[in-house]
Amino acid sequence: MKYLIAPSILSADFANLQSDVEMINQSEADWFHVDVMDGVFVPNISFGFPIMAAVKKYATKPLDVHLMIVEPDKFIPEFAKAGADRITVHYEACTHLHRTIQLIKASGCKAGVALNPHTPVTLLQDVIEDLDLVLIMSVNPGFGGQAFIPNTYKKIQDLKRLIQGVNEDLIIEVDGGVGLQNIAHLVSAGANAFVAGNAIFATETPTETIAKMKQLTND
Ligand code: DX5
Ligand code: ZN
Repeated sequence: MKYLIAPSILSADFANLQSDVEMINQSEADWFHVDVMDGVFVPNISFGFPIMAAVKKYATKPLDVHLMIVEPDKFIPEFAKAGADRITVHYEACTHLHRTIQLIKASGCKAGVALNPHTPVTLLQDVIEDLDLVLIMSVNPGFGGQAFIPNTYKKIQDLKRLIQGVNEDLIIEVDGGVGLQNIAHLVSAGANAFVAGNAIFATETPTETIAKMKQLTND
């Protein structure tokens, strides 16, 4: 099993973005996690295309784009053009989720759906075969540095059951409050991709923290 570490550039130093991107390039991390917030779906605004383009310019690893925005269909082709490798939309932000998933794929990207802490995984049952990834939010989306919600372990186990015999290659990604203290437990629950912002960028040597996270997954 391959375990993936996705540092969230939301916690990077935007005034020194190039050096933070290069630092992640040189680390054992697998993806760049790119958090886009619109101030409507979530109570915060992060960044949009110009910052993403700046990351893309230097990144040597895939961009894992997490759209915390309403009406994502309006922007999916542009995010694909801007260099997204995978695009994840929120279940709660999509009225026609099946259509949105097809649009992501038609734009040439891998498709993911994110679930807020209150949204059960069973709601994905009828689209689960179409998905490359499910992102389980382990905090309420909107901010870095929040406390991990323990019910996440149960949700990962529920999702693991849901994909059995149907889409076993699906990536189970966890986002929010993930770090050295809980990554091993998340692996045992069945997760295989880990977003971390604060736990990586707020440490003295982020590359070492990434290496330790990798070690704890036994990858
Ligand atoms: C939260 C974002 C997360 C955030 C994680 O809304 O989706 O990706 O950057 O930050 P930490 O790891 O600090 O909780
Ligand atoms: Zn995120």
